[in-house]
Amino acid sequence: MGGTSTATLKLKLKVWRQKNPKSDGHFEDYDADGISTDASFLEMLDVVNNRLILDGKDPIAFDHDCREGICGSCAMTINGNPHGPQKGTTACQLHMRKFSDGDSITIEPFRAKAFPVIKDLSVDRSAFDRIIASGGFVGVNTGNAPDANAMPVPREKAELAFKAAACIGCGACVAACTNSSAMLFTSAKVAHLGYLPQGVPERERRVLNMMKTMEEAGFGNCSNTGACSLACPKEISFENIAKLNSEFLRASALERG
Ligand code: SF4
Ligand code: FES
Repeated sequence: MGGTSTATLKLKLKVWRQKNPKSDGHFEDYDADGISTDASFLEMLDVVNNRLILDGKDPIAFDHDCREGICGSCAMTINGNPHGPQKGTTACQLHMRKFSDGDSITIEPFRAKAFPVIKDLSVDRSAFDRIIASGGFVGVNTGNAPDANAMPVPREKAELAFKAAACIGCGACVAACTNSSAMLFTSAKVAHLGYLPQGVPERERRVLNMMKTMEEAGFGNCSNTGACSLACPKEISFENIAKLNSEFLRASALERG
């Protein structure tokens, strides 16, 4: 795989097709001809879908919203890599110039017990919403907006919080993990709010509730392979998991008294 000098590509696609959550899925082969090297991966799928529709066939279902690497919707595994082979990139920001004429591309949904397939490449990631709802908030004073410097935040902590806040909830970390663990996602949320003074009132409740919700949703445990961080399109640091573990141990000890 690599760059190409041709303006269009002829590709062989192997795509996971699954009618609904209860049906068995299978791979189907498609020819994708005349694909512009300037197209994004999702635009390539749009071209394939337009041809399927013209042929009276069911288009391939996949999730997308912003197509700008912001919303985290475009979850799919491309040639075995969540979001594809390019580091730090969502599927919508992956461009076809990264592929070569004649390439075969296998496209399948994110695989995890906690992410059931809805249809084809579209999976139900509402387990992430439940984790967020269980602790991803801060109590706010709803009076007048405070002065910007009323609550000083050390620069190092502000930067750690900001980097963790870059998580877009896409689920690639879960798909990349042999245990389908959601620890990187949850750790990003715990770190984002935990480094800031605004997050202190919910500190213990946040980590205990989010860990509990994560387990109830069926995600596995972390075994420190680091695959999550490597697959993450926002390059969320694996070090956040150490922060999550220490917050969890602290909150558990305080809870026991
Ligand atoms: S940690 Fe990275 S891979 Fe996981 S949900 Fe957040 S952005 Fe996606
Ligand atoms: S469609 Fe929003 S991140 Fe890809």
